[in-house]
Amino acid sequence: MAAKKGILVCINPRSGGPACIGEASREVFRAFRKRAKERGVDIQIDRNVCMGYCSHGPNVKILGGPFFHEVTVDDVNRILDLASQ
Ligand code: FES
Repeated sequence: MAAKKGILVCINPRSGGPACIGEASREVFRAFRKRAKERGVDIQIDRNVCMGYCSHGPNVKILGGPFFHEVTVDDVNRILDLASQ
């Protein structure tokens, strides 16, 4: 049985330095959920804690795949395509 596909979006409120939380990260998270539903993509979209790239957020990771940094809503479809393969 294949593992469930997934995308993690950091919305961590890290203190003492730059962090992903903010409207941009929340907007990216909402866009992943909305577009996955609209496209009928069977993929888990979850919030995540710090990925260690705090100065380059919003940060996104495909489970078992690459990280993406400074993600915008314009990147969501491309990342969904990669995660769905
Ligand atoms: S707070 Fe998002 S990578 Fe650290």
